[in-house]
Amino acid sequence: MAEEKIAALVEENGRVHIIELVDESRKFKGIGVFNPKQTLSSVALGAAVQIGSKTFTHLPPRLPELFQGMKRRAQTIGSKDAGIFITRLGIGPGDVVLEAGLGSAGQSMHLARVLGATGHLITIEPREEHSVVGLENLEKLAQAVPEFPKHSHIDGRIETAIDEIETNVSNVDAVLLDLPEHPSAIRAVAHLLKIGGRLSCYCPVSSQLEQAWIACEESGLNVEWAGEIIEREWGKASKGGMRPVNGPFGHTAFLLIAQKMS
Ligand SMILES: C[S@@+](CC[C@H](N)C(=O)[O-])C[C@H]1O[C@@H](n2cnc3c(N)ncnc32)[C@H](O)[C@@H]1O
Repeated sequence: MAEEKIAALVEENGRVHIIELVDESRKFKGIGVFNPKQTLSSVALGAAVQIGSKTFTHLPPRLPELFQGMKRRAQTIGSKDAGIFITRLGIGPGDVVLEAGLGSAGQSMHLARVLGATGHLITIEPREEHSVVGLENLEKLAQAVPEFPKHSHIDGRIETAIDEIETNVSNVDAVLLDLPEHPSAIRAVAHLLKIGGRLSCYCPVSSQLEQAWIACEESGLNVEWAGEIIEREWGKASKGGMRPVNGPFGHTAFLLIAQKMS
């Protein structure tokens, strides 16, 4: 069995810490100073461990733990929307997927988990302060999962990265865009999609959705679906039974899926 390189430590309040199993004492935010390798090598998965004043459960770092414990800089797509993009774009092992912007890599982590060793993920990000965080999150995922795709990262804006993308691949199975402005990106990348391939846009406000829709049509893409995925969490009620939990019933973004059909 491959040596574990990453561990997940889960606090009693549910907060997840992703820990590199280095053999040296380091300070970990929210935990304190400890030597992860020495401390955790004798703690079985599923067992509790006391570090400083807190108690943690030692778990394997699966995607939900890595996602909850990831570093965040740019606003991150949640699993609800990341998952539906993967399903509706039909992404799986062996696909070539183009994604902009990388941001904190919330979407990229979900993509990398399903692309397998035969897939190819191309990410683009113009802001270094975002890509440093996003690439670190992807690196931790790569150390934690058995299969990771080929990953090419391009510094810059997607509109001006087309030549560099085309030195990597001649076409792509899917494009995912989470940008402040989608139209110029859609116009720049539409020709890269294979026939049958799909493009998605993540649009926090409805004006972005409308502009993305128009740009897809002008670029020869067929808008297949646009809408919002509503998530409503339920829990156990104090006097028995189940009910929706109290808390925000919020909006994340409008999603658009378009297909290249000819
Ligand atoms: C909301 S964040 C993306 C978050 C990412 N989807 C995630 O789940 O972590 C949007 C990112 O797009 C980047 N961006 C803005 N304009 C861009 C462009 N023209 N091409 C590529 N990336 C761009 C921003 O710097 C930012 O990091």
